[in-house]
Amino acid sequence: MTDVRPLDPPTRADALALDAADPLGHLASRFEPAEGVVAYLDGNSLGRPVAGTAEAMAQFVRGPWGTGLIRSWDESWMRWPEEVGDLLGRVALGAAPGQTVIADSTTVLLYKVLRALADHQLALDPTRTEIVLDTDNFPTDRYVAEGVAAERGMTLRWLDVDPAAGVTPELVGPALGERTAVVLLSHVAYRSGWVADTEEITRQVHEAGALVLWDTCHSAGSVPVRADDWGWDAAVGCDYKYLNGGPGAPAHAYLSARLHDLPTLRQPVQGWMGRRDPFLMEPGYVPEAGVRSLVSGTPPVLGMVPLRLALEMLEEAGIEAVRAKSLRLTDWAWQVVESWPAELGVSVASPRDHDRRGGHLTLRHERFEQVYPRLWQRGTIPDFRSPDGLRLGPAPLSTTFTEVWDGLAAVREELERAG
Ligand SMILES: Cc1ncc(COP(=O)(O)O)c(C=O)c1O
Repeated sequence: MTDVRPLDPPTRADALALDAADPLGHLASRFEPAEGVVAYLDGNSLGRPVAGTAEAMAQFVRGPWGTGLIRSWDESWMRWPEEVGDLLGRVALGAAPGQTVIADSTTVLLYKVLRALADHQLALDPTRTEIVLDTDNFPTDRYVAEGVAAERGMTLRWLDVDPAAGVTPELVGPALGERTAVVLLSHVAYRSGWVADTEEITRQVHEAGALVLWDTCHSAGSVPVRADDWGWDAAVGCDYKYLNGGPGAPAHAYLSARLHDLPTLRQPVQGWMGRRDPFLMEPGYVPEAGVRSLVSGTPPVLGMVPLRLALEMLEEAGIEAVRAKSLRLTDWAWQVVESWPAELGVSVASPRDHDRRGGHLTLRHERFEQVYPRLWQRGTIPDFRSPDGLRLGPAPLSTTFTEVWDGLAAVREELERAG
């Protein structure tokens, strides 16, 4: 953090003015009310339910489920993984239809896609035995990669990154070579919020003859993704953060059309719902064409009801407007924190540069672990990341500038009290 502090410290009146001028401000009231919550600053962990979610669930139970019963599978549910996938691909991933699917959880889809890409690479060239990833990638990504490497006799090549920043082309480039099979990275780092230069890294990976799998958990719905334009091979991400799909919502996977229907590219969980003509119940697995082949079992239809609704709101807002507000929200938070007395000892461990900053900011202070339960009790809800990080994840569709102000006022007060 710089020591140069603005002459006019920000005020709550500034926050109200920012809200009044916010082109997305009207959407904040279109979420289920959160009684007793002063500031919800954890949209990057669990998004809030869009207003109407409860009614949509009730309607689903009474209508397609309660009355349509098994007929609803034939009438529509069977196609939901691809239909909702196309909607998500269009509004959040910059993906043309037919390349995105909703299924499983992030972890399971990461496994299926990473293993499929790794197997494909090994089939083409058995000497391509390395999976490249970074030491600060989200734990599930690291563990899944360890598992795939153990299953396939591959090795992991670790990139050491600064946890306050993230992966760069300079770091990735030298790690790539003739042995690289797959590179697994997060588009936006879960800790710092660092936005990787995904276009350049994808180019480097392809130049080395490898494939890249992007984790979009912290970018989908927050930072615009242009998967097709950037030449991505594959991506997997969760739908319960900025996509407001609800706790444990099924995840999304993008697989570029370039990689469809290749005899060597097969995901490992060969279930009946990813098979061609599943109801023929025939012997032997034959993958369905296209991205549907990533589906394994019965699609999690119930879990897609809130997601559909939330994606429609995101489409209405537009991801570019969401990104613009997201940057204004984190700029505002930064400005407020920077106006605090230096003796308070809070620093920001996230990129300042807009090009590299995702949707959240991490603040650091040795007493955050001590104060964050108090914050939760009083209705200010950021999250804590060990050892000393307080993550502020304002969700552009639902968070107001005043909420950020009020939440940060509570953070400051609790730190002063813990003094
Ligand atoms: C970057 C990243 N990857 C993966 C996950 C989680 O995977 P799952 O949805 O299977 O729990 C998270 C959850 O916070 C995450 O932040």
